[in-house]
Amino acid sequence: MEFVKIKDIKNYKNKTITLKGWVYNSRSSGKIGFLMLRDGFGIIQCIFEKSKLGDENFNLFKTLTQESSLEVIGNIVENERALGGYEILVDSFKIYQLSKDYPITPKEHGIDYLMNNRHLWLRSKKQYAILKIRHRIIKSIRDFFDNNDFTLVDTPIFTPNSAEGTSTLFETDYFDQKAYLCQTGQLYGEASALSFGRHYNFGPCFRAEKSKTRRHLTEFWMVEPEIAFCDIEENMEWAENLLVYIVSEVLNNNTNELKTLERDISKLSEINGSFPRLSYTKCIDLLKDADYNIEWGDDFGSPEESYISDQYNKPVIVYGFPSKIKAFYMKRDPENPKVVLGMDILAPEGYGEIVGGSEREVDIEVLLERINEEGLNKKDYDWFLDLRKYGSVPHSGFGMGIERVVSWICGLSHIRETIPFARTMSRLNP
Ligand code: 4AD
Ligand code: MG
Repeated sequence: MEFVKIKDIKNYKNKTITLKGWVYNSRSSGKIGFLMLRDGFGIIQCIFEKSKLGDENFNLFKTLTQESSLEVIGNIVENERALGGYEILVDSFKIYQLSKDYPITPKEHGIDYLMNNRHLWLRSKKQYAILKIRHRIIKSIRDFFDNNDFTLVDTPIFTPNSAEGTSTLFETDYFDQKAYLCQTGQLYGEASALSFGRHYNFGPCFRAEKSKTRRHLTEFWMVEPEIAFCDIEENMEWAENLLVYIVSEVLNNNTNELKTLERDISKLSEINGSFPRLSYTKCIDLLKDADYNIEWGDDFGSPEESYISDQYNKPVIVYGFPSKIKAFYMKRDPENPKVVLGMDILAPEGYGEIVGGSEREVDIEVLLERINEEGLNKKDYDWFLDLRKYGSVPHSGFGMGIERVVSWICGLSHIRETIPFARTMSRLNP
C-alpha cells in the first residue's frame, strides 16, 4: 500500500493513511499511548487507544522501544498542541522490527561514544538538522554554478601531482608507481577551464593532516570553480556572491533545522555582500597592534584568523599573501613579486578560512622556478605546463571547503559533525 511522507500530512486531513518509520519515543498512560514516529521527512504524534485497538494490540504497542520500525494506519486529525499541528489516530499497525537496547538514549553521552556510534547517531535530531543543512549548502552551490554557465567536470582522485604541499600527501601503491590521493582538483580544473570557460569540480579531497584541530579532516569535500579570462578581483566577486547565495538559501529553506541547532540567525542575516577586503600586510599590522607575536612573512594560525574575522560581522577577504607561504601556482603580483594575487576568505565568529583561491601564474619560467623550489618532479607537471603553451589566458579560481562552511552556518564547535562519517587522524571507523 502507498504510504504518505509525514511532511505531506497536511494534505490528508481527516483521511485514513499509512505512515512508515521508526519510534522516536513512546509512552503510555493506562488506556492511551503516545508514540512519536519519525520517517526521515518529519515527526508526528501517533495516538494508540486501548478501546480502539483491543487489549492484545495495545499490549503489543507497549513493547515498542526506541528506534523500533513500524507502519501505522490511521486517521489524520488537526491538533494545535501537537508537534506540526497534526496527529494520527491509529487504527492498526505492523511492527517491522523491535529494536533492543538502542545504544543512544535521551541521556547525555560523551563525544567519543557518539562518534563510535555515528552510524546510529545520524538519526538524532541535531545530526539530522546538520546534514539537512549540509545538503542544502551542496545543492545551493551546484545551483549557483549551474545557473551561471559553469560546467561540472570531475577531476581524478588518484594523481601523481602535489599541488598543496608535499607534507600532507596520502601515498598509495599504484601498481609499479606511487600515486597520491588528490589534495585538490585544481590543476585539472585549469585544463577544463580552457575547454569550458567556466568550470567547477566538486568532490572529496584528502590531506594527511597530522594536527588534531576542530577545523581539519583528512577527507573533506571541496568545490572548486576555475574561470578563464578572470582576474583576482573578479575571482573575489564570484566567491562573495557564492557565499551570499548559500547563506540566503539556508535561511530561506532551513528555518526548522537552524532552530533545532539554536543557531543565532541574526548573525547569518548580516551576510549580504560587501565583504571587507584587507591586505595581508594590513592584517599583520592589526595583529601587531593587538600584541600578537607575528612578523611579515609568517602564516596565520587559528588565533590570528579569529582575531581578524572578529573585527567584522561578515566574511573577510584577505589578499596579497607572501609568495613563500602560498602554493606554486599562484600568480605573483606584477607590482610586488614578493606577494601573490591570492586570497583567503575568513568566516565570521572565529570559524577560520573557508575559501582559498588565486589568479593563476601563467609565466612558464616562473612556474618552473617555483616547481623547482618546492622540490616537485617537473615530469609530473609537463601536462600542466602545456596549458601555458596552447592558448594560455589569465584565469583564476578558488576552493571552498564544504565542512568548514557547514560548521560556520550551523554554528558548531567542531568540524567532525559536519560530514556523515568523519575521517581524522584518530578516526577511520565507522
Ligand atoms: O586553501 P586550500 O588549500 O586551497 C586549495 O586547495 C586550492 N587548490 C583551491 C583552488 O584554488 N582551487 O583549500 C581550500 C579550502 C580551505 O579554504 C578550507 O576551507 C578547505 O579547503 N580545507 C579543509 N577543510 C577541512 N579539512 C582540511 N584538512 C582542509 N584543508 C583545506
Ligand atoms: Mg588555504
